[in-house]
Amino acid sequence: MPQYVDQFCGKAPPHRGASSFVYPATPDNIVFFAEALRRGCLVAMPTETVYGLAGLALDESACRRIFQIKGRPLLDPLIVHVEDLAWANRLASLTPEAEKLAAHFWPGPLTLILRKKTVIPTIVTAGLDSVALRIPRHPVARSLLAAVGQPLAAPSANPFGYVSPSTAQHVADSFASALPFILDGGPAEIGLESTIVDLTNPAEVSILRPGGISAEAIGEVLGVPVGYRQPSPAPENGLALMAPGTLKRHYSPRTPLSLFDEGTRPPAQAMEAVVFLKAVREQHPSPHFYWFSESGDPGEIARNLFALLRRLDQAGHSRIWCESPRETAAGLTRAISDRLSRAAAKNKAGGSK
Ligand code: TXA
Ligand code: MG
Repeated sequence: MPQYVDQFCGKAPPHRGASSFVYPATPDNIVFFAEALRRGCLVAMPTETVYGLAGLALDESACRRIFQIKGRPLLDPLIVHVEDLAWANRLASLTPEAEKLAAHFWPGPLTLILRKKTVIPTIVTAGLDSVALRIPRHPVARSLLAAVGQPLAAPSANPFGYVSPSTAQHVADSFASALPFILDGGPAEIGLESTIVDLTNPAEVSILRPGGISAEAIGEVLGVPVGYRQPSPAPENGLALMAPGTLKRHYSPRTPLSLFDEGTRPPAQAMEAVVFLKAVREQHPSPHFYWFSESGDPGEIARNLFALLRRLDQAGHSRIWCESPRETAAGLTRAISDRLSRAAAKNKAGGSK
């Protein structure tokens, strides 16, 4: 395999005779992927939340290619994954709040926004003086970080604005040969992106993006109340992106998506799919009925959410209706509601596909 590495640093794909670029996460392949990363290539790696599109965080040109391949505006900063607290301290100033949260939730699905140190290239943080950091807990991500010996910038491995990937195949579906190194660590354990906490103002700790770790759990560790920051409307100029992580319009399938309230039925037409939070038990359910979970358990809904949205997006429906939990919900249910609202937001705004 190593002979492919040089060919792949922004150049044409090799002729491997294979249609897939997905590699099982064997120890040998992890060593190979680490070498590819050290040479400046990009790879997809599994994490417990969603798959990430990884490159060396301290290598400006690798980071530039992450933006290019995702089609992501340069004003939307990258999240950086580190192996341990020693690396976190080299990249950012860990406040007492950060130390408490890190001790409690890392490794795990929590991203901290912290004041950055100068070693991080400007492109990573889109010129901001803060950086998004997390230590993932997926064993393959941890082995890869250890093998690389450096931090990895890794936003979710989906084209900008599209549904995030919860399997290696989702990554392959979106990028094909443009991203030839995809490390398969199985379906994501959580299925939704990490909770993002802004710690840059210790007087007002807030959640930029809800995830599996709730505001209540974070507030309990810190001993102060922690609130959710409201998503910003789609930006009309770059400056609006200065509240990153809070874009209202995001995570959307190409098929128009509408929400209906939990426990109700939508006014669906014949070719429209209807997705419930839990299994519909009736004698003759419509063939266009689907559900995110059998039981209604939030963990099961989260694990299946992006996979089902992607599958329905391929199925030729004219609209996808999704049952959405109440926005006042807490914990993972809040994150589910958040992702569904953002997936639907562009239709509400009357925007184009
Ligand atoms: O679970 C996750 O967080 C996954 C896995 C791969 O780790 N990553 C992920 O990355 O979701 P991404 O780029 O799709 O989402 C990270 C969010 C973006 O919305 C970005 O705007 C925000 O974090 N972000 C990055 N740096 C920031 C900063 N300095 N201040 C505020 N938000 C920031
Ligand atoms: Mg993303």
